[in-house]
Amino acid sequence: MQKNNNISNSVIRRLPRYYRFLGQLLKQDITKISSRELSEMMRLTASQIRQDLNCFGGFGQQGYGYNVAELRDEIAKILGIDITEKIILIGAGNLGRALTMHIDFAKYGYELAGIFDSNPAMENVEISGIKIQHTDMLEKFCTENKPTMAVLCIPRTDAKPTVEKLMSLGINAFWNFTHYDILFDFPDANVENVHLTDSLMTLSYAAKQRK
Ligand code: NAI
Repeated sequence: MQKNNNISNSVIRRLPRYYRFLGQLLKQDITKISSRELSEMMRLTASQIRQDLNCFGGFGQQGYGYNVAELRDEIAKILGIDITEKIILIGAGNLGRALTMHIDFAKYGYELAGIFDSNPAMENVEISGIKIQHTDMLEKFCTENKPTMAVLCIPRTDAKPTVEKLMSLGINAFWNFTHYDILFDFPDANVENVHLTDSLMTLSYAAKQRK
């Protein structure tokens, strides 16, 4: 089966979920799974799963199912998480600290190489073994370490100049927790916006429709 290099965005959005489920299977020492079993677990149709996985080379074998480890490795490659790059976090406040402590970036292809904050009082404070640096150090740090991505946990009002600065230092991917629309000003950036409350409102819609 040929690999399709133009995998649709909706398939890509499902891949992290496949990756997570396959990881859970491996933890249970399950080495192969049929598309029917996977579909029951993931509450997708078996044909949807076959279609999704065929996009990148059809790992299933008729009558055998999927090799869990191979499929998970392939998904990791497609997502690019098999290659480690450096990421920095900007804004070591409540959210920045929580992310630093609870997200194991290394599991997802990123080494959290630096944490930066503009508050001088936070300089050298350690979170998860990493010392916070003042944002004045960004230029030197980026020149020496070449991070490719930034996590933004700063106030919305500070986001635009920060993104501008980071882009000038070679970073063009942002895991954006601020409510600033990066793509409006920087259409060439790679951006993933995370708004936890969007998820809450979506749940609210579903829950309240049922009443
Ligand atoms: P916080 O006030 O606890 O932390 C913000 C930190 O950013 C402070 O340590 C501050 O010194 C630092 N900072 C301010 N300007 C900076 C700059 N230009 N460069 C570097 N550091 C700078 O705020 P919190 O609660 O951690 O929230 C951070 C951001 O995340 C806010 O924009 C907030 O609205 C957003 N947020 C988003 C959520 C989401 O689901 N997307 C959830 C919670 C917060």
